[in-house]
Amino acid sequence: MSSITERYDVPEQHFWLHGPHSGPQVEFDAEMGMWNVYGHPESHDVFSDTTTFSSDTMRVIPKSLMPGSDEFSLEGFLTQLDPPQHGKLRKLVTSAFTRRVVADLEPRIAALTNELIDAAHDRGRMELVTDLAYPLPVIVIAELLGVPSSDRALFKKWADALFKRDAKISLTKSAAEQAVDMEATLKPWKEMSDYLAGHAAERRRQPRADLLSRLVEAEVDGDRLPDGQVVNFAIILLLAGHITTTMLLGNTVLCLDAFPEQQDKVRADRSSIPAVIEESLRYLTPFAAIGRSTTRETELGGVTIPADQLLMLWLGAANRDPREFADPFTFDPGRDPNPHLGFGRGIHFCLGAPLARLEGRVALNILLDRYDRLQTDPDDPAQLLPTPTMTGVLRLPLL
Ligand code: HEM
Repeated sequence: MSSITERYDVPEQHFWLHGPHSGPQVEFDAEMGMWNVYGHPESHDVFSDTTTFSSDTMRVIPKSLMPGSDEFSLEGFLTQLDPPQHGKLRKLVTSAFTRRVVADLEPRIAALTNELIDAAHDRGRMELVTDLAYPLPVIVIAELLGVPSSDRALFKKWADALFKRDAKISLTKSAAEQAVDMEATLKPWKEMSDYLAGHAAERRRQPRADLLSRLVEAEVDGDRLPDGQVVNFAIILLLAGHITTTMLLGNTVLCLDAFPEQQDKVRADRSSIPAVIEESLRYLTPFAAIGRSTTRETELGGVTIPADQLLMLWLGAANRDPREFADPFTFDPGRDPNPHLGFGRGIHFCLGAPLARLEGRVALNILLDRYDRLQTDPDDPAQLLPTPTMTGVLRLPLL
């Protein structure tokens, strides 16, 4: 159907990459116990109505399905908050994580990209994920937060434990299956919280010029963030700050390998790099699915959904909705506009989008400078993550 599925072994569960969606745009999945939303306008409707569609998905997941969940708090977990709490916290963290803070990182991102490519050359061949796409964003976010980037093996261990499982999210799993899943989540979560709480406490005693210090000191209406919320926000940044950008970098190179004529175009006109990044986010959407819950009975896409239901918005599918995008299975950076939902929409629009875009732009520009051709190795083909809700490469050896 597309060059990507023809060329690479795209997992079956990434159904939206295998062909146009047929069937209803909104449907109940009895096996999973939740509603799937595939369409672009329907997803847009959900993002726009935060009263009916809450980001607090935990409220509809029965406690019995989450044994041990009391042990970790999602207090102040920005992605799970609704108005008015969301607005206040978002303002507070935005005051610490400003566009200026991000823009100032450009020279450091460029220097790191060159260092990482040099190191890969010294070792022989480049495996894009291990050598660049993973370490670059992790080092950047660790330095920004002010935690030692040399601890990144730890961050990887936690992120892998939380994200790399190929388990499907389901409300119909047995209690025993659910307990195993929870255990796999709780342990790394606790370790990560304790680690960041230690660093945050240190910054309260002795602030430095880093984001953790700005977070502990930030104030809105005279209020500061309680410790638990500083830690939870640092967790979001540490996780969101690398997993997703790793996928973005790998996916963009994969697209330029699969569509060589687009690689020629961007080589000839580097000003089109931002458009390539946006089209990569549409074509291979890193966060392919995100959750919401209904607070009341509602109608979506002509279907009635009862109150207190879990919804999965399949952003990967919405980004290929032919009602919104002409030739959705063609990788075309020339789309203008390109209203993809890769960073979400509305009040929860990705707070890290400027950083992800900057890292993508700087790294791609340098890769194009340093490689005459960005090309995958046919004898050692790229491997995609099996995680059903994520689209990203696990390995990407370059020729
Ligand atoms: C929110 C995607 C990079 C921090 C989101 C959302 C999406 C997303 C889809 C909306 C979630 C929702 O509505 O429920 C991505 C992608 C990235 C990326 C595809 C890379 C290509 C980053 C980075 C950071 C970050 C680098 C931070 C350093 C956040 C935060 C939120 C968020 C804090 C929550 C915002 C809120 O709830 O108000 N991201 N993200 N993201 N992202 Fe990103």
